[in-house]
Amino acid sequence: MSDDFDDFARNLQAQIFEETQAAYGAAAFERWLHPLYMGKIDHPDAYARVTGPCRDTMEIFLRFEDGKVAEASFQTDGCGSSAVCGSFAAEMARGKTPDELLDVTGEAILNRLGGLPKEDEHCAHLAGETLQEALTNYMRQQVKR
Ligand code: FES
Repeated sequence: MSDDFDDFARNLQAQIFEETQAAYGAAAFERWLHPLYMGKIDHPDAYARVTGPCRDTMEIFLRFEDGKVAEASFQTDGCGSSAVCGSFAAEMARGKTPDELLDVTGEAILNRLGGLPKEDEHCAHLAGETLQEALTNYMRQQVKR
């Protein structure tokens, strides 16, 4: 009985994984299983928190060194896609100058992922928008100095 149930659960999980990978693509699926760059950075040089139209919130943290992003991370209370997109936003931000960060938009994240299901595209835009907001906050601080 227990073996039957274990087999059932294993098969169900395998089926869910297969369907998720088919719908979201290999890169997003892998990142969903192993989200990188998740968590906050203490005393970041740049930070933003944006709430999307779906009411989920994304936070981006950046630390700069020698004019480039040395460390980037994200936090979200949103869906699995938002975690994947936040993770890629952080990854794509690393090593970039403020100028280069302008290119890390929701569209760029979607391209990096090879697209997402239509209903999840806004998750990439939330991540991109939050990163751009963090950059804007950083630039404002630089002007004040
Ligand atoms: Fe809100 Fe994905 S559903 S960010």
